[in-house]
Amino acid sequence: MQHPIGIGLAGLGNVGAGVFKNLQANRALLRERLGLDLEVRKAAVRDVARRAEEGFPPELLTNRWQDLVEDPQIRIIVEVMGRKEESLQLILAAIAAKKIVVTANKALLAEHGRDIFEAATLHGVPVFYEAAVGGGIPIIKALREALIGNHIISIHGIINGTSNYILTRMREAGLSFPEALAEAQAAGYAEPDPSFDVNGWDAAHKAIILASLAYGFWIPPEQISVEGIESLTAADFRFARQLGYAIKLLGVIKATSSTPGSEIEVRVHPTLVPEKHVLASVNGVFNAVAVHGNVVGETLFYGRGAGQDPTSSAILCDIAEAAEALANPRRNLGFMPHGLYGRCKPLDAVLSEYYVQLWVEDRPGVIAQVAGILGELQIGISSIFQPESPDEGAMVPLVMMIHTASHAQMRAALERINALPCVHRLPRMIRVEHFS
Ligand code: NDP
Ligand code: HSE
Repeated sequence: MQHPIGIGLAGLGNVGAGVFKNLQANRALLRERLGLDLEVRKAAVRDVARRAEEGFPPELLTNRWQDLVEDPQIRIIVEVMGRKEESLQLILAAIAAKKIVVTANKALLAEHGRDIFEAATLHGVPVFYEAAVGGGIPIIKALREALIGNHIISIHGIINGTSNYILTRMREAGLSFPEALAEAQAAGYAEPDPSFDVNGWDAAHKAIILASLAYGFWIPPEQISVEGIESLTAADFRFARQLGYAIKLLGVIKATSSTPGSEIEVRVHPTLVPEKHVLASVNGVFNAVAVHGNVVGETLFYGRGAGQDPTSSAILCDIAEAAEALANPRRNLGFMPHGLYGRCKPLDAVLSEYYVQLWVEDRPGVIAQVAGILGELQIGISSIFQPESPDEGAMVPLVMMIHTASHAQMRAALERINALPCVHRLPRMIRVEHFS
């Protein structure tokens, strides 16, 4: 047996502590499987004293991430600090020192993936990031390797565990939004800044990463459409259920046709999903990613999308792959850019079906005014109903399901509907997905 391969762990927080624990627990198993021994030689944290008090070996701890890069015995650096500037500096310094990087930092990859992989290509070292999307689900490896022979027609994913946990707890246990978020934070699912979980941006970062693997280029974050779950109301859940739908925060990534060169769409938003569709029954912290390839057809990947152990499982896979790459240099460095795709469809041109909910005055002629505007803009109503609702004075809810229309059509329609004197409160619009 050769000397152990040295690992530098940058971060011993929720995820880093899990990697440390699980690497120790399964070190012998990995040694048997890989024929290589893996050892954490240093761990960088901000507060060395606090982590030593928690029981981490003091001789491993440093408050300088540079110590990991400068240690010649460290060949693999695992970045789980979750920072922007410092994590980018660390990753670029590690690549320049020809160390293999493993990172869970989806925000950084989404914003700086292009720079990171340009550096990786320049220095010929891979960067692995299985934990960046879907927690313990091996979706990165699946897209990068198992589905390499497919044009990806679409990816629909529940890719934020915290928001799915919140939606589930609100619907099933009647918790308030803050109560459900507090539970997710206590369980270690949320981001260091949980606003990213609820405003849709964590899922958006992951969608950018999935899109980069599916379509071979890094989409600028400002080109994608992102909505979070903060504004969903109990009434939305109630009306959706009456119509036979669940509400999920979905990442939607698709080529507008199966012809290479076509535009692609990347968006994240709450979505009405038919209750009979498999994604509607993905609950709690679980994630699921449905990938449609032109050769394989439909596939579905399911598992825990956040939390210390599932995330560690993905990072252990990356560490193992990194250790093997040290012995056998590889051509695929983690991301293979290509020029078959390259343009994002503008949001206004994106087509969808919609759920629209209005609060309107309870008097004759109101529905005709609303329907008139939709008709003038060539927008078709597939169903309309006025659900029973708690007393809201003279106002009643009006719920419409809308046939496929463009975002631009809907934006124009809702502006005009909102201006009607009979309409109170801003209209609510949620996209509907039938996965056809
Ligand atoms: P935490 O905030 O719990 O941990 C961050 C760790 O990094 C801490 O140990 C902290 O030190 C250390 N750190 C921060 N800045 C520095 C610095 N400048 N120098 C040295 N050490 C530093 O974050 P998480 O573990 O929750 O998340 C880490 C990453 O994993 C993030 O990118 C997150 O997006 C990603 N991720 C998280 C998942 C989850 O389920 N939570 C799942 C998948 C990915 P100290 O100990 O002193 O505070
Ligand atoms: N905060 C993230 C989530 C962690 O809840 O999905 C996993 O990436």
